[in-house]
Amino acid sequence: MKNIILIGFMGVGKGTVAREVAKNSKYINLDTDDMIESMQNTSIKKIFKEHGESHFREIEKDVAIWLEKSVKNTLISTGGGFYKVKNLKKIGTIILLDSPFDAIIKRIKEHPNAKNKLKKRPLLQDLQEAKKLYDLRRPEYLALADIVIDVTDKDAQECSKELLKKVKKYA
Ligand code: S3P
Repeated sequence: MKNIILIGFMGVGKGTVAREVAKNSKYINLDTDDMIESMQNTSIKKIFKEHGESHFREIEKDVAIWLEKSVKNTLISTGGGFYKVKNLKKIGTIILLDSPFDAIIKRIKEHPNAKNKLKKRPLLQDLQEAKKLYDLRRPEYLALADIVIDVTDKDAQECSKELLKKVKKYA
């Protein structure tokens, strides 16, 4: 089994889908944001605030190098900007969770913990800026993806089933 890497915009549901896939398969889930928070013993929000975004991106690069060298048979969910690391393709099969910007924001706002979901993401503080980032990134996500899953109006179970079916070809 090759690694699977989940990419996609903030709030699209990478973590939720990854947990569902892990529940229904042999994959173990690693999340790059969780790894960074435990490595640095602090939150992503604080890393951005105290050291700036560029420092966070450097940590992402280190994580990517470590993943390429040391991790196999694993489902890796990533932060929305992780796809920029140079060695992404070498880590595993890339799966894009895709959805229109408005549907993503609706999904976040409907979550019982919406306030915290928005608060913890520095790049979602200004929705106009976030939309610009989305428009910039979407073609780049599409260009990198081996597999695209449209997650709009699908629950985690449906997405997980579709993912496991499509990924078989790449295993
Ligand atoms: C980021 C997405 C976040 C987190 C950081 C930066 C981005 O992860 O890595 O706030 O650049 O899109 P999620 O995609 O899980 O929100």
